[in-house]
Amino acid sequence: MIKLLHIQSSPNLTNSVTRILSDEFVAQWRASHPETEVETLDLALDPIPHWGPDAIGGFMAKDGERTPEGQAAVDLSEKLIRQVEDAKILVIACPMYNMSMPTQLKSWVDHLTRAGRTFRFTGQGQYKGLIWNKKAFVILSRGGDYSQPPASASDFQEPLLRANLGLIGITDVTFIRAEGQRLQEAPSYIAKARETIAWVAG
Ligand SMILES: Cc1cc2nc3c(=O)[nH]c(=O)nc-3n(C[C@H](O)[C@H](O)[C@H](O)COP(=O)(O)O)c2cc1C
Repeated sequence: MIKLLHIQSSPNLTNSVTRILSDEFVAQWRASHPETEVETLDLALDPIPHWGPDAIGGFMAKDGERTPEGQAAVDLSEKLIRQVEDAKILVIACPMYNMSMPTQLKSWVDHLTRAGRTFRFTGQGQYKGLIWNKKAFVILSRGGDYSQPPASASDFQEPLLRANLGLIGITDVTFIRAEGQRLQEAPSYIAKARETIAWVAG
């Protein structure tokens, strides 16, 4: 069995492009890789709390020296990290919100990114990711088309996610984009994304 972790992050539960496309991706992957076991983490339905004082205090403190609230924050982070460690394939659905990712997904990223646990500093601003041997597929959707300059300079969604995943060692990442979902050409962008999904997951 190979575990695939499917992460949904759009708060739109009715006609979300990233929900629809990532569901299609997972269905096609399952059909072509029948040995796959799928686990879904829906960050809109089961949101992860933002880092607050308890979480920061818990992450900074040593084992055995945490408040119960600080320990609970570390335990949640640990649970989310193990869920990723147990999976071989990650499918991450990410709408663009205000040029970046939704807060639900960022909170998940924050809980995964722990110095000494999922990455370590190696000096001079260098680091080494400690989560290895994963393959990630990220399904992106955005209202505009950010594929070319000058709009591409305002895309903080794909570069940020690439950097965040890379920091913890997930460097084999394929991005599949549904650009222009608020443009007239939206259907053709969806068709293009579906073509890529069929090629990659089928
Ligand atoms: C709160 C909010 C912020 C958004 N910010 C942007 C943005 O900065 N740039 C953009 O091109 N589209 C933006 N959009 C449009 C969405 O990225 C687009 O509709 C996308 O398809 C949403 O994905 P979903 O359908 O999976 O939820 C925004 C939409 C919402 C609801």
